[in-house]
Amino acid sequence: MIPYVIKTISSPVKGKILLLGDKSIAHRALIVSSLSKGKTRIENVPLNEDCSSTLKNLKKLGIKITQRRRGLFSSAVTVAGKGLWGLKKPKSFLFAGASGTTLRLLLGVLAGQNFQVKLAADKSLSKRPMRRVNEPLRMMGAVIKASRINHQILNEEYLPIIIKGGNLKGITYKMPVASAQVKSAILLAGLYAKGKTCIIERVATRDHTERMLKLFKVDIKVNPINRARQNMIVLKGLKEMTSPKKIYIPADISGAAFFIVLAAIIPGSDILIKEVSLNPSRIGILRVLKRMNARIQLLNVNSLSEPVGDIIVKGSFLKATKIRKEEVPSLIDELPILMVAACFAKGKTVFEGIGELRVKETDRIESMRANLTKMKAHIKVFKSGEDENIAIEGVKQLTGVGVRSFGDHRTAMSMAIAGLAALGKTRIDDISCINKSFPNFINLLRNLDG
Ligand code: S3P
Repeated sequence: MIPYVIKTISSPVKGKILLLGDKSIAHRALIVSSLSKGKTRIENVPLNEDCSSTLKNLKKLGIKITQRRRGLFSSAVTVAGKGLWGLKKPKSFLFAGASGTTLRLLLGVLAGQNFQVKLAADKSLSKRPMRRVNEPLRMMGAVIKASRINHQILNEEYLPIIIKGGNLKGITYKMPVASAQVKSAILLAGLYAKGKTCIIERVATRDHTERMLKLFKVDIKVNPINRARQNMIVLKGLKEMTSPKKIYIPADISGAAFFIVLAAIIPGSDILIKEVSLNPSRIGILRVLKRMNARIQLLNVNSLSEPVGDIIVKGSFLKATKIRKEEVPSLIDELPILMVAACFAKGKTVFEGIGELRVKETDRIESMRANLTKMKAHIKVFKSGEDENIAIEGVKQLTGVGVRSFGDHRTAMSMAIAGLAALGKTRIDDISCINKSFPNFINLLRNLDG
């Protein structure tokens, strides 16, 4: 347990911020490079717990990976990929730590392997639902045994999982939940499947896997179905990939989000965040904050395989908005920090259809409700039909108190930002969880509050 005390910020935030590489893109770069023949050099891989988890498991599967540090928390990684059929059965079970992306994406890869593997993870990930990924992989031909012991939800499946893959066939799958992890698992399994693998997304989720596979010359097509952001993705597998040899991971928009909101709610602030991933399927937070009156400008935007650019944010007075259900996948990880922004906006901000937050590292609806209520925010959780929603009525000031991270990195970082903008001291019970994604977060915050 590492407690952390935050005082009200003494002056507006100013300056240039350099952030670690994007966690989602890094997972994919590491995995796909391992499955293509030859060396791929990946620059700016974040040295956080989640990406380390992917790296360690790929090594266990027989892939040679070398790392060169670039500063304390970043590295250049060279992956000696062995092609689609080059993985070997690990000597012991795979352990995903707390990384849902590691686990679910690797399940997709393992569905294509002719050997049996057991997967386990830490306590928090062992409570998260896995049927959503097991089911389509079974339809493709993988044999998967999962635990039901931990069950909070009827018919749900949990870790540990034993998977035996091989002999996959392509399927057409209409995604029942909007999840990039599930979609990615199916696409990675699709690399090993006979025929076409076709995925229909009712609401588009982050498309890093599609972009990474295109970069490795996989035959994959993404067809928008209509204006409601529905997609059909078609992949043809059973063909070796071609590595681009070099990949650069841009800064993580999900990490940038905390600084963007901090600058947006503190009048007089003016920050520049360099070379951030601006993938349209991830920047819902920018669209929402702009609607809320935030002063955000994008500079030097270039469209490589992943769009990248600089972000300038200046402090302003925010107003409330409505976040619609279809927008949620594009800002799913930013909902906790957007809830903090909503506390400082004039009027009532409504977050619609955010039920997926219940099955993240912690139940983020409950963790944020409990913490923000303690800080004297006006927050209400309500249901409409099947949908879970939150309404937050802006208040003039939050009050510093003791709050909890619930072992969840994004809850901890959101509360740190709330604490800086609140009156009086805020104490977070444990911030060790921040290492999951953003090990230098507290240092960067300290540097800003000069
Ligand atoms: C991720 C997808 C999202 C997100 C997670 C990372 C990914 O999860 O919340 O932090 O890299 O694919 P879901 O697919 O469960 O929505």
